[in-house]
Amino acid sequence: MPHRIQWSDLPGPVRTHLEHALGGRIVDATGPAGGFGHQLAAVLTLASGRRVFVKAAPDDDPLTASNVAEAAVLHALPHRAPAPDPITLERTHGWTVVVIEHLDGPHPDLGPGSPDTAAVPERLDKLAADPADDRYRTAVGTTAAESIRLHGWSDPHLTDLDPWASGRLDRLRDLEQAWPAHAFGDRVVHGDLRADNMVRDRIHGPVFVDWAHATLGPGWVDLASLAPQLVLAGHRPVDVADLLTGHPLTGNAPDGVDAFLAALTGHWERGSRQGDPARAPGLRAYQRRAAAAGRAPRRAPALTPGQDREPTGC
Ligand SMILES: Nc1ncnc2c1ncn2[C@@H]1O[C@H](COP(=O)(O)OP(=O)(O)O)[C@@H](O)[C@H]1O
Ligand SMILES: [Mg+2]
Repeated sequence: MPHRIQWSDLPGPVRTHLEHALGGRIVDATGPAGGFGHQLAAVLTLASGRRVFVKAAPDDDPLTASNVAEAAVLHALPHRAPAPDPITLERTHGWTVVVIEHLDGPHPDLGPGSPDTAAVPERLDKLAADPADDRYRTAVGTTAAESIRLHGWSDPHLTDLDPWASGRLDRLRDLEQAWPAHAFGDRVVHGDLRADNMVRDRIHGPVFVDWAHATLGPGWVDLASLAPQLVLAGHRPVDVADLLTGHPLTGNAPDGVDAFLAALTGHWERGSRQGDPARAPGLRAYQRRAAAAGRAPRRAPALTPGQDREPTGC
């Protein structure tokens, strides 16, 4: 059973409405790999050969609000942002369908030696180069301090932590508590950057998708959030630490980066121990892997130099 709503699950009148809105018959709908959402996410091919990407859910599904928020963000992002263009938002027969420019390609490869690994931080440099404008601020309506709430290490139920975490729990709790004080800034923050929230487009190269969690915050947050993703993709933790310290965005905010990464890891530790969400299979397993990647050694005051620079085997 696919966990996502399929194109064929949409009521006939919704599909017909969309054909009218797009000006052609839809001859194919292909669900992409990736993502944990249960809403429809599909590439639609029109009889003309034109392709568009759609996300859709019934209006009483909480993901509709996310999809609408994402559409507003796509409209408000600065021109330089590596994001697909929004096409239209259609509300009909109790469903909301967001139509987005189709990107043509696989998820980027964030592994060692891949050109994507260098290209993604370059995209983030451009994105963080200037303050976000008023249009974007209005569209997101939140700041990172409000929207990136990361709680984990202080949860009294985390009684089965590994020796790395339990041996420095007080320090990790301090870092987690410090995160909100570092969460201020005036830059565009994607807020959920992973390989499956990027598409390496044939023409544009790596483009960020899934902007539902976008917010306003420090320009270094997205790059810092890639650290565990790079570890998951096969980079040595020590190399990821070097990337963070050597890159101007993250290198100039070491305390914030440490607090954020510690808090993010705790968030995953706690999340991975929650019950399995029926409509997002694979989420808990991902959180377990991500928490392990976050625990992997990095150059941080939370760590004891030397002892912690060995991989933890995630
Ligand atoms: N504009 C697009 N063009 C082509 N494929 C896309 C586009 N946006 C997203 N995708 C693909 O669809 C998947 C799910 O979309 P996403 O916006 O990430 O939704 P979800 O919230 O369900 O994760 C992504 O992992 C990516 O593979
Ligand atoms: Mg996604």
